[in-house]
Amino acid sequence: MQEQIKTIKETIIKAIHSVTDEAALRELEVRYFGRKGAFNEILKGLATLSDDEKRVVGKMANETKKELEAAIVTQRSKLQSSQLGAIAETEWMDMTVPGTTPRVGHRHLVSRFIDDLESVFGRMGFDVATGPEVEEEHYNFNQLNVPEDHPARDMQDTFWIKNLHKYVLRTQTSPVQIRYMGTRKPPIRVIAPGKTFRKDSDATHSPMFHQVEGLMIDENISMANLKAVLAHALREIFETPSIELRFRASYFPFVEPGLEVDCTCVMCNGKGQTGTRIPCRLCKKSGWLEIAGAGMVHPTVLKNGGVDPERYTGFAFGVGIDRMIMLKYKIPHLRLLFENDLRFLEQF
Ligand code: PHE
Repeated sequence: MQEQIKTIKETIIKAIHSVTDEAALRELEVRYFGRKGAFNEILKGLATLSDDEKRVVGKMANETKKELEAAIVTQRSKLQSSQLGAIAETEWMDMTVPGTTPRVGHRHLVSRFIDDLESVFGRMGFDVATGPEVEEEHYNFNQLNVPEDHPARDMQDTFWIKNLHKYVLRTQTSPVQIRYMGTRKPPIRVIAPGKTFRKDSDATHSPMFHQVEGLMIDENISMANLKAVLAHALREIFETPSIELRFRASYFPFVEPGLEVDCTCVMCNGKGQTGTRIPCRLCKKSGWLEIAGAGMVHPTVLKNGGVDPERYTGFAFGVGIDRMIMLKYKIPHLRLLFENDLRFLEQF
């Protein structure tokens, strides 16, 4: 029997050492040491031995079992660590490789330009107001003294809201003048930047564009104030202190007198040419750029806004924001501002 134990011990040791994964090791454990395992089968023979023999053989069997169990534990931890080694071999990471940087965006050129406008006018004491983009015909036209048959109301220009009688996509920021006047008393100093809409589309026109409205009302406000405020603002915005303005008589129903405002060309400084005898492309040799519509607020409009035209006067202006951006950054096509091509936007 001792021989038998010795033999099976050798067999088992060999088996343990030749096992290559944990599952096989577990199987082996059951096969030899389970209740019906080979080892226990041998021990059944103990019953036939004398008491003295039982003591000796029993002791030997126990020791052998312990040894084998220890061998299994050792083999198991060997298998486990070689498995970890294999994982480390196939799933390692190089912590020194730089990570993928997420793309970080920034605010759109138009939004940043509007911020600049707000701070330039803010320093002159101007408030910032907004109005609805879907506007009542009443504010967009009637209250601004735009007669029923004015061409601005024409189907060619205005987007009317279907099934929503008397509403339009505002064609100008001027309705904010009326809305703002209605909520406070003079003195008033406010700008209203925002989106405006007209049925128009080419290199310099888009159905959606941006305007900034300006309005200043107080006692004794004159065109001199208009000129000073606009000139200062344009010099700041274009970062060109030498900018000068000229006024040309024009017509807008909500101002009297009405003006077109030109400023000296930001490319040639009003000379009409860049360098010697190179005609300026931006102002087409004229030295002037059309920049704003403006004028003294019409007494009827003041009245419509609840302001006493006997006591107060004011000026208003409207400037195309997109056009200013195109002039400042020498952008050749208006659509570039709205196409959201990152190759373009990332330059600003
Ligand atoms: N609202 C006019 C336009 O869109 C511009 C303007 C504003 C003119 C204020 C005079 C006074 O053309």
